[in-house]
Amino acid sequence: MSHYPNDIYTEPANVDADTLRNLGPLRAMAGIWQGVRGLDVKPKAEGPKKQAFVERFELQPIDPQTNGPQLFYGLRYHTHITKPEQSKTYHDQVGYWLWEPATGTVIQTLAIPRGQIAMAVGHAAADATQFELVAQRESTTYGICSNPFLEHAFKTVEYRIQVTFHPDGTWSYDEDTVMVIRGQTEPFHHTDRNTLHKIGEPEPNPLARR
Ligand code: HEM
Repeated sequence: MSHYPNDIYTEPANVDADTLRNLGPLRAMAGIWQGVRGLDVKPKAEGPKKQAFVERFELQPIDPQTNGPQLFYGLRYHTHITKPEQSKTYHDQVGYWLWEPATGTVIQTLAIPRGQIAMAVGHAAADATQFELVAQRESTTYGICSNPFLEHAFKTVEYRIQVTFHPDGTWSYDEDTVMVIRGQTEPFHHTDRNTLHKIGEPEPNPLARR
């Protein structure tokens, strides 16, 4: 028996046009952010390599999104990462952060130009100061999907992200992307972390601007 309603078409009546008022724990992430003390641990032929990075992270509210009776409020994001004092892209990522108030669910979708996508899920209170999301390769709901070369050489089996909001208004993430690298016996932990400082306010979502 599923816990979903029999009527899968009718949209909820209580949709608020103003996304910024309904983002639950994601409210503290809306806006434009900079992080200058990022740390990446990446796979190299000779072993794990640490690299400092700087980041510009933009998260803007989208209009409320329904799937029949399901209602999400969310942010569309783009993060762009370079090595300090360089302009060449080191990592680029786009997607959505979604909040489902009815269930306290947080979802992150991510796409990176290596030809790889993932969708991670977790649960949180609306006023949470920390939460964690997870995606797993085997899952058809909150999974990871890679192009065939990555699946062959850097099989990505799990992705986790922990987000923490700090009292001074900054926030941090701590990620662990676990991959099984061809020729290696132990899984590799490709980790990334950064702390983000606000450099711009979010713009209201299109419907709230009218
Ligand atoms: C701040 C976040 C991230 C940064 C800065 C970053 C950076 C990098 C870099 C520089 C490499 C290449 C290593 C090299 O050969 O020099 C790499 C490899 C890789 N990354 Fe990330 N990454 C991040 C997050 C992620 C995420 C979230 C995923 C997937 C969910 C991912 C998947 C991979 C995979 C599969 C590889 C292996 C492919 C290869 O080495 O050619 N990365 N990452």
